[in-house]
Amino acid sequence: MRKSNLFYLYLYYETMKTSHFIPLAALFIAGSAAAQPSVRIAGGPWLQQPTDEGFTVVWTTTLDAAAWVEVAPDDGSHFYAAERPRYYDTHIGRRRTGRLHRVRVDGLEPGRTYRYRLMQQAVLADEGNRRVVLGEGYGSDILKHAPYPAATHDAQRNSVSFWMVCDIHGRDSIYRLLLDGAGRARPDFVCLNGDMLTQIEDEAQLLDGYLRTTGEVLGTAGIPIVVTRGNHENRGSHASRFLDYFPTPTGETYYGFRQGPAYFLVLDGGEDKPDSDIRYYGLAASDAYRAQEAAWLERAVRSEEFRSAEYRIVLIHMPPDAEGWYGCRETARLFVPILNRAGIDLMLCGHYHRLDYIDDGSHGTDFPILVNSDRDRVAVTAGPQGIGIEVTDTSGKTIRRHRIGKRNR
Ligand SMILES: [Fe+2]
Repeated sequence: MRKSNLFYLYLYYETMKTSHFIPLAALFIAGSAAAQPSVRIAGGPWLQQPTDEGFTVVWTTTLDAAAWVEVAPDDGSHFYAAERPRYYDTHIGRRRTGRLHRVRVDGLEPGRTYRYRLMQQAVLADEGNRRVVLGEGYGSDILKHAPYPAATHDAQRNSVSFWMVCDIHGRDSIYRLLLDGAGRARPDFVCLNGDMLTQIEDEAQLLDGYLRTTGEVLGTAGIPIVVTRGNHENRGSHASRFLDYFPTPTGETYYGFRQGPAYFLVLDGGEDKPDSDIRYYGLAASDAYRAQEAAWLERAVRSEEFRSAEYRIVLIHMPPDAEGWYGCRETARLFVPILNRAGIDLMLCGHYHRLDYIDDGSHGTDFPILVNSDRDRVAVTAGPQGIGIEVTDTSGKTIRRHRIGKRNR
């Protein structure tokens, strides 16, 4: 065969290849358009920051997505009875995309229960300013399962009840036992009082360690979480993203909130050793943060909302202790003088991994400190009869009770 014939044979082969390629490619593209990836809930919802007019919902999805929450009153109507208002995951005036979603729902009425549904659209293409394509919407199932419940605060209520667990260090099976019965007991919130993980390296660790269970048990029951940062949550390559999962009204890891007759101070004791400790790799800056927090605390205890509260409760991971490790000494030096002037009724801590009730002033406080263990659950009720504390172990047995009388303010 001549050389030119060989060339034409090659051209024919290429053409045939291409002519097959075109319909095959068209089929592939049509097929992929028909079967868009479905974006599902990977963890959550984690209900947080309830106030008298709203709440915050946080959850993660299996793919990058744009998300929103649909809210309906708890009035017996079907969720599909009306178009429900949408609250988008936005930040500084722009919808956010990603796998972690935070939606603030507001404009609600105080003391009411609501139902909500999570919605998300996968990001099919993101070419910046050239083209963004969102897929079809997928939501939490409201046909086979009830929508998620949530309630707004009622300032007129004369009692508040909550649970507290701490120092789980990623032992999800223990944590799950401690949350048993939460759906029946319906505490107003569950405080996760620090060291829920030994370090935060990535999201999978958060989910496997305790957050997936938190969504399954508390999120589905409409029970909010109040999260303090323990010393261990300062550690790991994902540690700086703490507030992405647990947003606060101050944008810091310390804040306060009022619920019924009680004001809660949520504090952060920082790291337990000096910032220069070799284990912090030169990255710790707890000294400056505690000083900034102490200045905020001075202002917080002067607020009308704090001063008008019948009960004043502090949630902090590390117990202050002038004789203890550096971090505990610093919280004793910086926070305790302010708290002693502020008429605190009770402080709830963890960190020691053993149960203790310190009401002898040995830690320099004029209020009792309940230190929970790493395998018990504390239930607290503050109401007309004072404050009642009940500590329960993983088998559900009550192992300790305390009662604190009402102060004359
Ligand atoms: Fe700790």
